[in-house]
Amino acid sequence: LVASMKQVDETYIMIKPDGVQRGLVGEIISRFERKGFKLTGLKLFQCPKELAEEHYKDLSSKPFFPSLIEYITSGPVVCMAWEGVGIVPSARKLIGATNPLQAEPGTIRGDLAVQTGRNVVHGSDSPENGKREIDLWFNEGEVIQWTPAQAPWFR
Ligand code: TYD
Repeated sequence: LVASMKQVDETYIMIKPDGVQRGLVGEIISRFERKGFKLTGLKLFQCPKELAEEHYKDLSSKPFFPSLIEYITSGPVVCMAWEGVGIVPSARKLIGATNPLQAEPGTIRGDLAVQTGRNVVHGSDSPENGKREIDLWFNEGEVIQWTPAQAPWFR
């Protein structure tokens, strides 16, 4: 047996307020679990305005920025850290295009959303941003590095 040398990355996935309001939390988490990625952080969180602005700071000059901040802070979000080989681009594929009307069927946005401004989920766009966003949204001790059990759990 040769040990895998593949690079494991981490990404920040967030179920936006509309996803929580619409009862899609389980559905969205399931898609990442079924894909085979590992959950390392999870919390329901009411995002303060300052944090939303920091998270989306690269978009601060866009005309939709104020409404984006209002949307993200309009109710609780579900913050998640996930890890796996190739997870950043793979999670973006599972999520689908920014505009849900252009997102392919089978993707989260393609199956579950209609409007760009209500596109139910966020996923980091690079491994660097994955790290940055996990550090931004989680406190120390909230992200857990765990190893799947080797022994069966049913005996
Ligand atoms: P962006 O980082 O471009 O997309 P993605 O979430 O797919 O990485 O934009 C961040 C969020 O900003 C996007 O999910 C929804 C919102 N947004 C708008 O409301 N209007 C827009 O025209 C765009 C491009 C984004």
